[in-house]
Amino acid sequence: MPRADTADLALDRITVGYGRPKARVTAVQDVSLRVAPGEFVVLVGPSGCGKTTLLRIAAGFVEPTRGTATVRGEAPVPGSATGVVFQQPRLFPWRTAGGNVAFALARHGVPRAQRAARTRELLEQVGLAGMEGRRTWELSGGQQQRVAIARTLAGEPRVLLMDEPFAALDALTRERLQEEVRTLAAASGTTVLFVTHSAEEAVLLGSRVLVMAAGPGRIVTELEVGLERGPGTDVAALRGTPEFSRLRGELAAVMRQASPPPRAD
Ligand SMILES: Nc1ncnc2c1ncn2[C@@H]1O[C@H](COP(=O)(O)OP(=O)(O)O)[C@@H](O)[C@H]1O
Ligand SMILES: [Mg+2]
Repeated sequence: MPRADTADLALDRITVGYGRPKARVTAVQDVSLRVAPGEFVVLVGPSGCGKTTLLRIAAGFVEPTRGTATVRGEAPVPGSATGVVFQQPRLFPWRTAGGNVAFALARHGVPRAQRAARTRELLEQVGLAGMEGRRTWELSGGQQQRVAIARTLAGEPRVLLMDEPFAALDALTRERLQEEVRTLAAASGTTVLFVTHSAEEAVLLGSRVLVMAAGPGRIVTELEVGLERGPGTDVAALRGTPEFSRLRGELAAVMRQASPPPRAD
């Protein structure tokens, strides 16, 4: 297989069917994709096209019906080289913000004596300095998602898988988190596969965008995003540039083509 050794994440001809043989749903069919080390790839497509299914395959949560998935050359094992951030933060409600992060550190074998300091560092990294004692119900939706990101970073994942992580947040919080995730990934060189159904978010974050269509789920096209974005990039200013608008428009058009409206007849 060419290039397999240079990819951090590789899906090769993945097909996934759900349900019993008589009521089979082909969620994704014959999907291949590669994400190079340090690359930020975005997967977009309409609801039901199989985005979550592909992420679950990459995370090692489910086995494909056909095809192979590899993370850094090996079959994916949940929680080893990959870290997953879901749309809902799914925190332990009986633990504090810090407790949720410390629990993840413990699971990844960080010695007890180092956990408090590392928890503080991780919460600081996601903009929650000094919040370790907060109860989860005292946190806003955005803050809870920040804790969820810190908890995932606790495992020092080589490959970060994010499934519409900001979809439930208000616009301003969403913009801030987009900027922070982009900066975090660029600074740490983490490989990212990010799922969204927003053209704007895809162009803002991705260096490459893979567009999916449904029925069955498949990748129909790919868009390179040539925008300059380093750790110091002012994302708000980037949104105002003509190049950004052009790319967003182009992607939105491709997405509309990939998911035609239901026929009226
Ligand atoms: N556990 C499951 N059992 C049966 N069908 C499923 C299951 N998970 C997803 N599907 C179906 O597979 C297709 C793809 O779902 P999903 O991967 O969640 O898409 P997306 O994340 O793009 O919205 C949909 O038709 C969905 O109904
Ligand atoms: Mg989904």
